[in-house]
Amino acid sequence: MGHSHQAEMLDLDTEVLHEYHREVITWVGASTPDRPRILDLGAGTGTGSLALARHLPDAHVTAVDVDEPMLEHLRHKATTLGVDDRIHTVQADLDQPWPPLGPVDLVWASASLHHLADPVRALTRARDVLRPGGAIMVTELDSFPRFLPDPAGEALEERCHAVLAERRAEAGLHMDDAWGARLTEAGFTVETERRFDIVLRPPLPAAANRYAHLALQRMRHGLADRLGAADLAALDTITAGVLDRDDLVVRATRTVWLGRRPA
Ligand SMILES: C[S@@+](CC[C@H](N)C(=O)[O-])C[C@H]1O[C@@H](n2cnc3c(N)ncnc32)[C@H](O)[C@@H]1O
Repeated sequence: MGHSHQAEMLDLDTEVLHEYHREVITWVGASTPDRPRILDLGAGTGTGSLALARHLPDAHVTAVDVDEPMLEHLRHKATTLGVDDRIHTVQADLDQPWPPLGPVDLVWASASLHHLADPVRALTRARDVLRPGGAIMVTELDSFPRFLPDPAGEALEERCHAVLAERRAEAGLHMDDAWGARLTEAGFTVETERRFDIVLRPPLPAAANRYAHLALQRMRHGLADRLGAADLAALDTITAGVLDRDDLVVRATRTVWLGRRPA
């Protein structure tokens, strides 16, 4: 799956789950001082950076990602939205020694830390770039969204997600719920852990169909060597028709941990 597909998935996630994103951004706004300096770790196409810059008009955001095309996409959107004077990007691999990134008032890390080889090391560095009393918000997911409402479709998605989970575990991705413990190990006080069970029912905007289409394509691509022929054929048929369906239900979970560097 190429960069443009990944970038489009991230942008569709923002569009389709906009109420969830708005709720978290409003919450984080209440946890930061005036004129906050914010560090977005693994910023991707800028879901967090752009929403934070728009919601907090005095904020300055540093968006870090290992993937330069993602950052280019982010800069382009920042210019379109007129917040490019308050967002700057840094290309860096967070598994390597960090360039100077602080001091900041808020560290934001959404769906990115599970990619890192050593998340506690990254969290410890994040603590060091935070001002004493500063906040960190870590958002993680335990699986990718699901879309199919009928029993056969749900069962197929269930089998695919089980295989995907195996594959993630083999790849060493940290998609679990241990982030509170990792934050504590890195020297943060965990103030809140909040789980969002998101269920969006019809009628849904066309973006939800595009999101489902891309997600199913990605699953097909990632599982081609792991699923039986019947499941692959069923996935192909469903994917081919998913753009025209009006019965999709988007189900997604996110958990957000709010931690603080002790003053
Ligand atoms: C699932 S995306 C999340 C993007 C964004 N935070 C969001 O919530 O939409 C994960 C991002 O982490 C970045 N990433 C993965 N490993 C990284 C690393 N070692 N250093 C920096 N960024 C990394 C990827 O390039 C990708 O943009």
